[in-house]
Amino acid sequence: MIKFDEVTKTYGKVIALKNVSLEIHKDEFLSLVGQSGAGKSTLISLIIGEERPDSGRILIDDIDVARIRRTDIPFLRRKIGVVFQDIKLLRNRTAYENVAFAMEVSGEKNNSIRKEVPKILEMVGLEDKAKAFPHEMSGGEKQRIAIARALVHKPVLLLADEPTGNLDSINAWDIIQLLLKINKNGTTVILATHAKDLVNSVKKRVVTIEKGEIVLDQQKGKYVL
Ligand SMILES: Nc1ncnc2c1ncn2[C@@H]1O[C@H](COP(=O)(O)OP(=O)(O)OP(=O)(O)O)[C@@H](O)[C@H]1O
Ligand SMILES: [Mg+2]
Repeated sequence: MIKFDEVTKTYGKVIALKNVSLEIHKDEFLSLVGQSGAGKSTLISLIIGEERPDSGRILIDDIDVARIRRTDIPFLRRKIGVVFQDIKLLRNRTAYENVAFAMEVSGEKNNSIRKEVPKILEMVGLEDKAKAFPHEMSGGEKQRIAIARALVHKPVLLLADEPTGNLDSINAWDIIQLLLKINKNGTTVILATHAKDLVNSVKKRVVTIEKGEIVLDQQKGKYVL
């Protein structure tokens, strides 16, 4: 589904990714681990076409994202849901409205919004918080809404960049469970994180990057840095 073929990405003098080759298969749950500055977020921004590599190819379902036209990026983005560490919910909108808004901006009809949003809220376990505003929700709940929002287009791929970074361990574990459930329902998931204990418990594929290079790729792996 995703193939990195000898991808190098620099920012000025900084080599953020160096000759990275990696294949991610459909329905996989992959944890991407490594210390701060290792290149995790860079890898994610390359997948969504936000950054372009200096060299190498990045294929997503046979589209070369490294050479994609700017105008085609919105189509790519519809296949991919993204969740970031800093959640950025709309403050003046309820949980329901935050999810609905993501559908509105992409031109969904009101009918389907009314039908889909409750289902998505239920999926993330927050149907009872539909009317809550962000300041009335916990960090973990807000992160669930961010995940709900990323799911509105029924993406084939979900990218989560440090989704548990600001959460305590219980809430973080709940978020991981939610990502596993989403994966079970047929979405490929890439989770970038430092959270060693969490990744150990997941027992899925773990790719470790160090200074822009993949140093380990383990099935049911463990975090080693
Ligand atoms: N826009 C940018 N301009 C210049 N350098 C950048 C930029 N983005 C990232 N870098 C550098 O590229 C390297 C990889 O950064 P990246 O954000 O991918 O790391 P990371 O693994 O996500 O780290 P963290 O765990 O702290 O989020 C770092 O040295 C970083 O300073
Ligand atoms: Mg990062």
